[in-house]
Amino acid sequence: MKSSLIETLEGQFSVPLSRMRKIRSFVTKEMDAGLAGRKSSIAMLPAYCDAASGQEQGGYLALDLGGTNFRVMLVELPGSGKPPRVVAEAKYRLTPGQITGSGAALFGVIAGYLRKFLKEHAITAEIALGYTFSFPVRLLGIDEGILMKWTKDFSATGVVGRKVVAIQRQALIRKNVRTVKIVALANDTVGTLQAQAVLDPDCGMGVILGTGFNIAVRVASRRIRKETGTYRGKSMIINMETGNFNKVLPRNSYDQRVDKDSGNVAHQFAEKMIAGKYLPQLVRLLVLDLIRKGQYFDGHVPTVFRDKESFQGWHMDVFEAGSREAVQKLSQELFGRDLAPSERRMMARVCRMVSRRSARIAASLIVGALTRLERRSKQRVVVAVDGSLFEKYPGYHRVLTMAIRELVGPSGKDISLKLTKDGSGIGAAVIAAVVRQGSQN
Ligand code: BGC
Repeated sequence: MKSSLIETLEGQFSVPLSRMRKIRSFVTKEMDAGLAGRKSSIAMLPAYCDAASGQEQGGYLALDLGGTNFRVMLVELPGSGKPPRVVAEAKYRLTPGQITGSGAALFGVIAGYLRKFLKEHAITAEIALGYTFSFPVRLLGIDEGILMKWTKDFSATGVVGRKVVAIQRQALIRKNVRTVKIVALANDTVGTLQAQAVLDPDCGMGVILGTGFNIAVRVASRRIRKETGTYRGKSMIINMETGNFNKVLPRNSYDQRVDKDSGNVAHQFAEKMIAGKYLPQLVRLLVLDLIRKGQYFDGHVPTVFRDKESFQGWHMDVFEAGSREAVQKLSQELFGRDLAPSERRMMARVCRMVSRRSARIAASLIVGALTRLERRSKQRVVVAVDGSLFEKYPGYHRVLTMAIRELVGPSGKDISLKLTKDGSGIGAAVIAAVVRQGSQN
């Protein structure tokens, strides 16, 4: 009886090829609607820059805000296609109170940490800064944009509908930081694409598979029918905001519950099936049902499953693919005892069904996005990917690659997924250089 219930759930979480194909074709339709400024679940937001050439040079600051950690980096770009060098870096943790409190206070905290960074690294001369702000922002140009909505449980007040850089600049002035010039505002997917494009001109796509999920893609300007101001380049990077895609997704009752419990109900449906923030929440709900309906954990709900945040992504890693010793150690920590073999198998299966589904849906969106990619070369496509799910989750890279091949057939071998570590921060520095050097105008 137990195994049949798990099998039913596996059925609910499977994504057959036919479904992946459907998702791919709806992604293309939604992209076209978004590019034309028509109603679409994918916003297709212009990034006001094209892929970097590799010639970008100089020292720049990068500020990277997109999750509960934010980073400040000093990046040196050597030019000539050589890898950027992170000269200095600091990571700061934002508290739940800060990300849900007042916007002015949040930007003030960021300005304060930036001031600290400048002091610690004795940066006194004027310096250009690229700002990675990983939320849906409608850019007004390369250095300003309006926050459309928060995601990933951010809800700081007084920011939605307003100019992000203006708010940050005011906060910098309040903290007496006057040497830093914010010259570019970018999404993390755009930064990731740029960080890889510097090294490889065939990179035309950036993907984040981490706490959140999203894709940026290089598109021919003639396909972009909506307002792009004074931008004159032949192609432009588009921040797709694919996390909000909501067509033909195989959502089930668990997805509905995760959505209901989230800070942004009825938004970001794809993200809630794919991203690292939500996968452990799905696992938790599945396990709770299995405990209630079966005999696992003697019918008692362990503390770690009582609230929605305690069970975490790295726990899934261990239960799905960890060594016997690692599972034993974690079980002791979480449950105060080792698991029975049937419980171990159940945990592994649940984690696998949730992580596999994530990879197969992500693959369908990536392949959909490829249909509108403006390539530099006919032979190969390089997709820059950053984020803990892709980098660290055991087997995720493999399942994603296999799903992409299943969808595109033999030409799948020309698509390579490249881990682009710290891409979001480094890419912001690259965009700052593009702006300062005026290389795309
Ligand atoms: C945001 C995107 C971002 C992604 C990855 C999503 O929640 O809407 O702008 O790129 O997370 O960080």
